[in-house]
Amino acid sequence: MRRITLINGDGIGPEISDAVIKIIDASGLKIDWDIQTAGADIIETEGTPLPERVLNSIKENKIALKAPVTTPIGKGFRSVNVKLRKELDLYANLRPCKNLVNVKTKFDNVDIVVVRENTEDLYAGIERQVDVDTAESIKLITRKASERICKFAFDYAVQNSRSEVCVVTKANIMKLSDGLFLDSFRNVSQNYPQIKKREILVDNLCMQLVQNPAQFDVLVLPNLYGDIVSDLCAGLIGGLGVARGANIGENYAVFEPVHGSAPDIKGLNKANPTALLLSAVEMLKYIGEREYAENIENALYKTFKNGCFTSDLGGNLGTNEFCQKIIENL
Ligand code: NAI
Repeated sequence: MRRITLINGDGIGPEISDAVIKIIDASGLKIDWDIQTAGADIIETEGTPLPERVLNSIKENKIALKAPVTTPIGKGFRSVNVKLRKELDLYANLRPCKNLVNVKTKFDNVDIVVVRENTEDLYAGIERQVDVDTAESIKLITRKASERICKFAFDYAVQNSRSEVCVVTKANIMKLSDGLFLDSFRNVSQNYPQIKKREILVDNLCMQLVQNPAQFDVLVLPNLYGDIVSDLCAGLIGGLGVARGANIGENYAVFEPVHGSAPDIKGLNKANPTALLLSAVEMLKYIGEREYAENIENALYKTFKNGCFTSDLGGNLGTNEFCQKIIENL
């Protein structure tokens, strides 16, 4: 039986994790879940939101499914998500955004893959208090990380029959840092003559995305722009409740939804488990369990087709009832 780490998170994390485990179990696929708690709820007992045991579990199992974890704003512990990505060198954040069957949105032909650099940029954590009224953060961009993520984007495009990779920067203003990212893209792109290349500034991209998203295919971005743009793209396909994601490195992969821990609806049986379920579907495909993945995906689409939705998508089903409908459709 395949052993996979499950970080069930906090906030709505445990509720949606329970739903996803039940659905995968009902599909007939047997997984030995190595459940690891992390996040705000364990700081008091373990002194850290990301204990070594969590990292060790992923290192042993190589694959993890992760529910969201709260990052308190302001001083305190470093984000679990940022630390996890850094410690395991999960350098590529992959967020496919495609319209879902029967989920109504403004545009019906969105099929964008956001490839976000995951290890540096303003998320490198290099910050200092210059004086009491001044703080500074360093935007770190290296050629190594930039070329690596651009190569990932082009390889993804080739392997998934996509036709264009578009690089997103603000290189007109940040000539050195974003300029280096752009230069890395240009270098790497020469090895992929069969893929179309496009360059766009991040502000223009945002405007174009909300007017005509169908023109975009694969986007590759530095960390901060990637974070913001992937939420925008999630909005194009029905919101955070349905947006899947993955963090991939050379040795390990952690699959997780785009959304956070949604403390405003914690424990109310309101959370939509779709984004975590679709992240799990991507994980099953990644480990070669394509048939189970497709069965689960089809059961989800059948559920949508029957007009069954949680409240974020205009329906009246709670997390548990929605989960039960998917299981019935398996
Ligand atoms: P959020 O994504 O948790 O919530 C934004 C809005 O979307 C809220 O109104 C929430 O109720 C709704 N929402 C999110 N997921 C939903 C779902 N599955 N079903 C129905 N509605 C859903 O973003 P927010 O409020 O900015 O962050 C809350 C916490 O989550 C913060 O501590 C943040 O740092 C953390 N976070 C963690 C992430 C992770 O673990 N990968 C990613 C993003 C944020």
